Amino acid sequence: MTARFAKIYSVVGALMLLEFLAQFYTIASSGFTTVAGQIANSANGSETRSAVQEVDLFAAAHAVIGVFIVPLTILALIALSWLARLPRRTRVLTSLLFLLWLFQFGLAFIGFAGIAPIAGLHGLNALALVGLGIYLVRRNWAFGGRGSASTATLTAGH
Ligand code: HEM
Repeated sequence: MTARFAKIYSVVGALMLLEFLAQFYTIASSGFTTVAGQIANSANGSETRSAVQEVDLFAAAHAVIGVFIVPLTILALIALSWLARLPRRTRVLTSLLFLLWLFQFGLAFIGFAGIAPIAGLHGLNALALVGLGIYLVRRNWAFGGRGSASTATLTAGH
């Protein structure tokens, strides 16, 4: 049964990495949506906001994924790390993902308050989330003939 939970941990972990990828993609697209709107407005010489700027679906997607989907995924991972009886270090580091997300959320609000030099850490913290996420998924990968990546590392020395 724990082996099954370990596999679900791997799948949910991979899903989380895709969500992180979506966050980078949506925020870059949102930035270009804003810039394109500004260029269009200055070319027109009018004050009218372009439709794309008014409805920035990319920013909305970034918010929905960041506020709801990512934290739920991380909470599921924490539960799975216990159910699968993964090593204590993995359980602690999986919980650290949630702390990093809290920090990420807080930094967004610092940004909304206009303190951009500090809010910029949101971009760096995103890299920490990605790095730790990749490490955990690779380290605890439960598929493949030789079991987890750590097993593969151990056997590679022989
Ligand atoms: C692990 C990846 C990421 C997560 C989990 C994440 C999470 C969040 C959250 C929770 C918010 C607050 C949304 C709201 O309350 O409306 C937010 C907003 C924002 N994030 Fe991220 N973010 C990630 C990556 C990034 C990256 C890589 C950048 C840019 C380098 C970025 C830039 C922004 C900006 C500019 C906002 C404010 C505008 C908006 O809400 O669209 N984020 N993010």
